[in-house]
Amino acid sequence: MSNPINLKVNGVDYAILADQNTPLLYILRNDLQLFGTRFGCGLGLCGACSVLIDGQKMHSCDVPLWDCAGKDILTIEGIGTPDNLHVLQQAFIDEQAAQCGYCVSGILITAKALLDQNPNPSESEIREALDRNLCRCGTHNRFVRAIQKVINSS
Ligand code: FES
Ligand code: FES
Repeated sequence: MSNPINLKVNGVDYAILADQNTPLLYILRNDLQLFGTRFGCGLGLCGACSVLIDGQKMHSCDVPLWDCAGKDILTIEGIGTPDNLHVLQQAFIDEQAAQCGYCVSGILITAKALLDQNPNPSESEIREALDRNLCRCGTHNRFVRAIQKVINSS
């Protein structure tokens, strides 16, 4: 362990003192108690741990702490709250898009990254964006409908 790593998470500055190779996912969950970012595969394959780092979707299980120095990180907790839902979260509720919900924070992060970069994606572009986010409950069609609802209402 050496010097702390300075980073920003959901608009809050932190100085994290930990092994610099610790995956960001563990820092979020174990140090910052941000449990909305999920552990799925731990191998960069399932998308459950997705966060935005400087606006880019990344798999936080696959990003070491040292690579987060000076970066701006957004987790699902920074997107909306129960009292102030993001439009995507409201659309997912309206469309009953989740079943068990385990994958959904990663799906929402991915959807936000897509709409931030392309506010009017086609269905195939939505499906392509979600391609690396696995859902064991098989509700991708509902996710797509919810995202299209946001696009059509904006
Ligand atoms: S837990 Fe990170 S991609 Fe699966
Ligand atoms: S809603 Fe259960 S894994 Fe996606």
